[in-house]
Amino acid sequence: MKRVQYDRYGGPERMYIGKANLPQLGAKQIRVTVSAAAINPFDWKLRKGVMKLFRSRKFPKGMGTDFAGVIAAVGRDVKGLFVGDEVFGSVDFNESGAFAEEIILDSHLVAKKPARLSFEEAACLPIPVMTAWAAVFDKAKMSKGSHLFIHGCTGAVGASAVQLALARGIKVSGSCGTASLQSAKAAGVDPVFTYGDKQLQAQNGKFDAVFDTLGTLSVGAGLSMLNRKGIFVDINPTPGRMVRGMLARRYKLAFATMGIKHLSAIADLASEGVLRPTVGLVVPFTDALSAITAAETGARVPGKVVLAL
Ligand SMILES: NC(=O)c1ccc[n+]([C@@H]2O[C@H](COP(=O)([O-])OP(=O)(O)OC[C@H]3O[C@@H](n4cnc5c(N)ncnc54)[C@H](OP(=O)(O)O)[C@@H]3O)[C@@H](O)[C@H]2O)c1
Repeated sequence: MKRVQYDRYGGPERMYIGKANLPQLGAKQIRVTVSAAAINPFDWKLRKGVMKLFRSRKFPKGMGTDFAGVIAAVGRDVKGLFVGDEVFGSVDFNESGAFAEEIILDSHLVAKKPARLSFEEAACLPIPVMTAWAAVFDKAKMSKGSHLFIHGCTGAVGASAVQLALARGIKVSGSCGTASLQSAKAAGVDPVFTYGDKQLQAQNGKFDAVFDTLGTLSVGAGLSMLNRKGIFVDINPTPGRMVRGMLARRYKLAFATMGIKHLSAIADLASEGVLRPTVGLVVPFTDALSAITAAETGARVPGKVVLAL
């Protein structure tokens, strides 16, 4: 079985397409033949070693997290999933390895693929939408009538947060780069500002929550945009911000893994057309290394880059 893997933490030069044997299928696990796998910033951050304290020391490690594919085998204790089912999901960050022909993972890490989505589209959902869900609903506790500001409202996480929030009757304002203004407006963000727009200061004290998807808004600036009970949610923690996230009442950190329990609800929302992932570029698996390197070094595509297997 071929996969993208690496023998040491480091830059793009550490990746190669190599062969790996799948472990034995556990009782609560499934084996999936991967059809498509989406590239997320999380994938190269893991390869660089940002989570190495929390991961096993075993190498080589497979790369890739979000995927869609077809179940090829089910463990004896798996309920509700069968060989031939089309699923999408997210591999546990300690295992990783979705940029591969086949994967084995725990059955609770997948949901049935919405029929209206292609494998490529479904592979774009897990990390971005789970993160947006954790931030907007679990941490910021937004509900109908709340007013949310999303800093970086057009990236994969930002666009997912916009779609989730608007569908629940939450008012969404936000910021983005000049090139993304039109797509933000078309998505329903109102008003939308470019980064650093002086008029943003007039919005101080207005919001029930500020969600910074990029990690570029200072905590002070974010807090000043909030009303008295507002919450600032961050998804790009530094060590200092991790500590702050544990101690501060109005500053919260959100992580993709917090949303795994909502994967079936996410599938339902995609089936209803509420969640509309944008595939920017589909790349054959043989070109995986150059596609990951390009995404990592800042090549911009309108939407997500997906590997097709
Ligand atoms: N805590 C967690 O569990 C978690 C989970 C997921 C992501 N993250 C982190 O959150 C950050 C955002 O992740 P993401 O997946 O949303 O990244 P992304 O899709 O690359 O978007 C990030 C930003 O890049 C710009 N951009 C992306 N594609 C573009 C395009 N085609 N044209 C123009 N601009 C484009 C957008 O900003 P502008 O257009 O406004 O410049 C966008 O807001 C990353 O640092 C990631 O590591 C954390």
